[in-house]
Amino acid sequence: MKITNPWPFLILYLAFFPFSSKISIAAQDTITSSTSLSANDNLTSAGSTFVLGFFTRGNSTYLGIWYKRISVQTVVWVANRDAPLSKSTGILRIDGGNLILVEGLDKVVWSTNISKTGAAQPIAQLLDTGNLVLREDGNNNSGRRLWQSFEHPSDTLLPGMRLGWNSKVGLNRSLTSWKNDDDPSSGDYNYKMDQNGLAQCLVRFQSHLKYRTGPWTGVRFSGVPEMQPNPIYGFYCGSTPDEVFYTYELLNSSLISRLVLNRTGHIERYTWDLESNDGIWKLYWRAPTDQCDEYSKCGPYGICNVNSSSVCGCVKGFEPKTPKEWSLGVTSAGCVRKAKLECTGDGFLKLTEMKLPDSLQAFVDSSKSLEECEIECLNSCSCVAYASADIAKGSGCIRWAGDLTDLKQFSYGGQDLYIRVPASELGHFKGKKTLLATILSVNSVVLLFFLCGYYYWWKKKKGYKMNERHGDIFNDNETEDSGKSSELQLFSFNVIVAITKNFSESNMIGKGGFGLVYKGQLPNGQEIALKRLSKNSGQGIDEFKNEVKLIAKLQHKNLVRLLGCCISREEKILIYEYMCNKSLDSLLFDQTRSIILDWRKRFNIIVGIARGILYLHEDSRLRIIHRDLKASNILLDDDMNPKISDFGMARIFGGNQTQANTNKVVGTYGYMSPEYAMDGLFSIKSDIFSFGVWELWKEDRILELIDSSMSISTSNSEVLRCIQVGLLCVQENAIDRPNMSSVIYMLGDERMMPLPKQPAFCFWRGYCSDYSRNEITIRE
Ligand SMILES: *[C@@H]1O[C@H](CO)[C@@H](O)[C@H](O)[C@H]1NC(C)=O
Ligand SMILES: *[C@@H]1O[C@H](CO)[C@@H](O)[C@H](O)[C@H]1NC(C)=O
Ligand SMILES: *[C@@H]1O[C@H](CO)[C@@H](O)[C@H](O)[C@H]1NC(C)=O
Ligand SMILES: *[C@@H]1O[C@H](CO)[C@@H](O)[C@H](O)[C@H]1NC(C)=O
Ligand SMILES: *[C@@H]1O[C@H](CO)[C@@H](O)[C@H](O)[C@H]1NC(C)=O
Ligand SMILES: *[C@@H]1O[C@H](CO)[C@@H](O)[C@H](O)[C@H]1NC(C)=O
Ligand SMILES: *[C@@H]1O[C@H](CO)[C@@H](O)[C@H](O)[C@H]1NC(C)=O
Ligand SMILES: *[C@@H]1O[C@H](CO)[C@@H](O)[C@H](O)[C@H]1NC(C)=O
Repeated sequence: MKITNPWPFLILYLAFFPFSSKISIAAQDTITSSTSLSANDNLTSAGSTFVLGFFTRGNSTYLGIWYKRISVQTVVWVANRDAPLSKSTGILRIDGGNLILVEGLDKVVWSTNISKTGAAQPIAQLLDTGNLVLREDGNNNSGRRLWQSFEHPSDTLLPGMRLGWNSKVGLNRSLTSWKNDDDPSSGDYNYKMDQNGLAQCLVRFQSHLKYRTGPWTGVRFSGVPEMQPNPIYGFYCGSTPDEVFYTYELLNSSLISRLVLNRTGHIERYTWDLESNDGIWKLYWRAPTDQCDEYSKCGPYGICNVNSSSVCGCVKGFEPKTPKEWSLGVTSAGCVRKAKLECTGDGFLKLTEMKLPDSLQAFVDSSKSLEECEIECLNSCSCVAYASADIAKGSGCIRWAGDLTDLKQFSYGGQDLYIRVPASELGHFKGKKTLLATILSVNSVVLLFFLCGYYYWWKKKKGYKMNERHGDIFNDNETEDSGKSSELQLFSFNVIVAITKNFSESNMIGKGGFGLVYKGQLPNGQEIALKRLSKNSGQGIDEFKNEVKLIAKLQHKNLVRLLGCCISREEKILIYEYMCNKSLDSLLFDQTRSIILDWRKRFNIIVGIARGILYLHEDSRLRIIHRDLKASNILLDDDMNPKISDFGMARIFGGNQTQANTNKVVGTYGYMSPEYAMDGLFSIKSDIFSFGVWELWKEDRILELIDSSMSISTSNSEVLRCIQVGLLCVQENAIDRPNMSSVIYMLGDERMMPLPKQPAFCFWRGYCSDYSRNEITIRE
């Protein structure tokens, strides 16, 4: 080829030669005002992770970033996705403070488009994170960043890159799918963070919402239970009124990872193992996964559960809006309330294992507690639901207004959601028809169906009246193995306040070491006793709950039955069955009432208490040392059967050992064993001591009463046996005291109890010294 006019070439030569040569010599990752990048050049990041260069798809050429070390060219960012170069003649350079892509000599195809900043000539640098930055020049990469590719993502979110928006600087960082595998131009799918108040990510097809991750709840998005703490990724989400972002970090340096919105609208997370170098991208996670991920599949107030036979169901208290279509599987119309909200007197229905819903309006306040959240929601008539904003801390507040939609329920990994329902649905006291406020645990709609069906059948058959319930059952597997016994109800604090007339003195019936006791009546008429625990139990809410669940499982006819509890911030309240004959001491102290306690009754009471203690000590699932056994903790039912109360307190107040030292001596002096009172050392033998004291004390009463009309002649030996057992139990040395099974044996069997001929204490000391350490070997 013959050169006729050398000038254009000379100009080109002068313009570019020095710079081109400089590229090969100078830093491989930077373009300065005097260098540029042309078709066959590329920038390689300092750690050789990423490359910026030109690539071709179809008939077009694009400027993009891909991985350097990966055999399959995987483009993670495209500069000019919607303005491809027709020929491979693009040049990337810095001009007028912007990084521009020029086709030919003067056609600007793409530009960083920042307005003039007055800064010195900036430089562009490809960082090892895959971020292309335009920044002020500075010796040690310290120049101010003017523009960065991380703020203008294509379809890929790299570790450290943020998705989200910032209204102050007017940023919207979202992913847009490629049109085609061969065409990086903007496709129809978009993945961005919600701008309506919730920190959640949304996939849209054009303007139609297709999928929602659910709001961030402290550790993950509520609709993505797979987002568990793991050794590969750290997930983060931040939100302020001005900014919301989501990002992740890669924790394992032998992996490469990317999150991509593919052209069919799926979010896929891939990993590449650099060590094994098996040459493929492995799919680590994807969404949406199942049909319940389809946005609002079951419509407003419809709950989607892939593991339920019908997939879509209505929230309890709601019914399908269009029943005919619904039965045919057309569920998008959702559900409507059966009874209108009344604003005042409404309550909340708790749904478990939920993906938190979407609505037109949501408010997040992470400084609030869940209780404050409930109150705030109750006080606002437009609030339809609330939930915790931080599942890790169990605090924070999300409130919703408008219709709730896109409710999904998981088998595991969801969270609690409280939906506002009118009082009639909850069976509040003003409530009219049914008091069935059991939470619809939609965990398994099938199971529920079965239970309801069974119940209905049973009710019909037996002709029983509806068993009224209030509140909420603990929802776990443990409840299944022990049947009705562990049906523990969780009461809301508001209910408790109503029952006790705000803990009025007129309702107070007792005072114990662990708190005050109030009397109350459930809506179904059942009388209950409430124990409001003093606040220094030192136990966390979860611990307390577990403890109560365990204790509720202890069922014995000589123990007061625990019906439920209420946990609300500082408040811990236990709800027991009410005993109309009150406590034993009230009976004994009352001269007129004490008459009704003849010896037979007294002996039954002693044996009953012994059985109750035996159960606590040895036969129950838990070994419980009462630590505060005394007459006032023995309650009597209609038939004068004794029932031990406060038996779980020792555990709740932090004692689950069989013997241990405790700083806090709980109990009542006078009933306390010496080693416990003096050294804080307690064991089952401390309870034995208290039992003994109690008996001895009773014997005093009995002896007094001998003079009154009571005849004890027939039970003479019983009385003496009791005295002896009492003495046995109060021996100074804990090892010498019998255990409860021996006590019961001795109380019941005359032959075991020769009448004492010697001073009782010595006699019994000698007797007991034959016993091995903690076991009593009974010899005939
Ligand atoms: C980058 O450019 C160099 C020099 O032209 C070339 O050898 C290398 O293959 C290019 N790298 C990539 C990833 O294109
Ligand atoms: C350009 O693309 C069209 C279809 O997209 C194809 O038919 C044609 O062969 C391509 N041209 C070249 C030069 O690759
Ligand atoms: C950015 O530059 C392109 C041309 O390169 C132009 O079409 C577009 O309007 C510019 N955008 C802004 C926000 O200035
Ligand atoms: C380089 O870094 C050091 C330490 O961070 C800093 O003191 C110095 O000012 C920096 N130099 C420039 C030119 O920014
Ligand atoms: C970007 O986000 C702002 C709010 O931060 C919003 O007002 C604006 O409409 C968004 N722009 C686009 C193109 O989405
Ligand atoms: C990182 O990933 C590699 C490959 O999967 C694995 O062999 C290695 O144990 C991981 N390292 C850590 C610290 O988890
Ligand atoms: C997009 O991702 C989904 C989920 O991983 C996958 O089933 C689908 O084939 C992908 N589509 C394309 C075009 O790769
Ligand atoms: C459905 O049940 C299967 C098997 O129990 C479980 O693995 C899966 O996580 C459940 N799906 C949902 C969405 O809970």
